[in-house]
Amino acid sequence: MLVAIDGTAGSGKSATAVRVAETAGFVLMDSGLMYRAVAWVCIEHGTEILEPELVALLASVPIAVHHRGLHMYVTVDGVDITDRLRALEVTGMASRVAQFAVVRRFLFAHQRGFGRRYADTPGLVAEGRDMGTVVFPHADLKFFFDAPVEVRAERRWEQLRELGIRTALPELRASLLHRDRADRQRDLAPLRRHPDAMVINTGQLTLEQQVELILEQIQACSRQRNPR
Ligand code: C5P
Repeated sequence: MLVAIDGTAGSGKSATAVRVAETAGFVLMDSGLMYRAVAWVCIEHGTEILEPELVALLASVPIAVHHRGLHMYVTVDGVDITDRLRALEVTGMASRVAQFAVVRRFLFAHQRGFGRRYADTPGLVAEGRDMGTVVFPHADLKFFFDAPVEVRAERRWEQLRELGIRTALPELRASLLHRDRADRQRDLAPLRRHPDAMVINTGQLTLEQQVELILEQIQACSRQRNPR
């Protein structure tokens, strides 16, 4: 089974997707982490964010995406860089590199690979901005997460604080709005709700309720597939 979760920045997709994958025994694919990995490589190499430079970079730097148990991790040159990908500088750069066709094509191939390997067994939860619209339009279940920006900023501030990253709330709020705008307005795979996607307003729900809602849909979908 393939479950696609898309939505705005900081709307709770990742936290929900992790719990859903753990409970359902599915593999998790955090596509944002892939964009962050490319961003991190750009920063490390001081690459100019232009099409020819990005083409050369992706051809020469070995970026690989793996999963350990249910969790994803990314290596560059064989070194696990996953822990470095939440830094604010990487977040901003991820949103920039995500505008480029060459980057999206490169990651699309990795993402579809995850789908081929895990959608049937044990099942895949894919989260990002274009999972249900572009990468897996045939997903069995599609969700679109959103919440008021104030709620998203406060939750993200708290998450970053737990990771030891200090930031000011107004800046965080502005950065979320900026990323949403860039994601919504880009020509390629813009952030939008697939008509089949169930909208979940996470401003009014707890994490447990979000997880429960999706698990219920997974169970209903399994029952429909394997009626007794
Ligand atoms: O989800 P996360 O915040 O980790 O994603 C980082 C950035 O990567 C987003 O701001 C977005 O611009 C980009 N992204 C994307 N398509 C996806 C996942 C992430 O464009 N499927």
